[in-house]
Amino acid sequence: MVSDQSADVPRTFVDANRLWVDARLRALVQRRLEAPALLRLGGPVPGGRVLELGTGRRGTGLRLAVELFGAARAEGVELFPASVAAGAAAVHDLGPRVDVRLGDATALTAADGSYDAVFGYHVLHHATDWRPVVAEAARVLRPGGRLYSCEMTARIVDSRPLRAVSRHPADGDRPTPEGIAAACRDAGLAVSGQETRLAGCWTALVATRT
Ligand SMILES: C[S@@+](CC[C@H](N)C(=O)[O-])C[C@H]1O[C@@H](n2cnc3c(N)ncnc32)[C@H](O)[C@@H]1O
Repeated sequence: MVSDQSADVPRTFVDANRLWVDARLRALVQRRLEAPALLRLGGPVPGGRVLELGTGRRGTGLRLAVELFGAARAEGVELFPASVAAGAAAVHDLGPRVDVRLGDATALTAADGSYDAVFGYHVLHHATDWRPVVAEAARVLRPGGRLYSCEMTARIVDSRPLRAVSRHPADGDRPTPEGIAAACRDAGLAVSGQETRLAGCWTALVATRT
């Protein structure tokens, strides 16, 4: 069962959102493992203006952008209204440094070159069309700005156990470690670091706008 608040979030077979995506354990993994990996690969963004794509409901990526990466301002874009509301409530204590808006990462409203960094934690494998997400991230980055991306890859997303419990976009072009790096290069980003683990099921990448 999904809660009323998440009524407009697509259901998964066993509510994988509740069990993993929105769970405390997920936030812990993001805070202890994923964000530190991205920080090692790309460094901090002191005083920067950053954008997070697909913020989800806990606001962890926005909080980490401020508290760990040192951003002065962190803005989030999320596709589902209930997730925007939940995410905004979760980071309320950070005040005007953080803002979450309804929006589509494949068609951002921000002007070219608006951000010092763009973050995406597991948004690519949930986007119906992920390559335009990379292209839009590149477009809104200033020259020298960095994309920080952390993803579960095709190898795990298309595995039988995950298919049994989780809903993802229809089969087709799924992100792989090599595919994400290639999409970055196609979008005018130079990959400055990538770390792929768990037998290719997880990848973290940082790419710089040339
Ligand atoms: C697996 S969840 C990850 C949430 C959070 N970033 C995390 O790491 O826990 C993917 C999120 O991306 C959002 N999303 C998917 N496609 C999107 C799009 N085109 N634009 C904005 N958000 C999108 C989903 O609604 C969902 O909140």
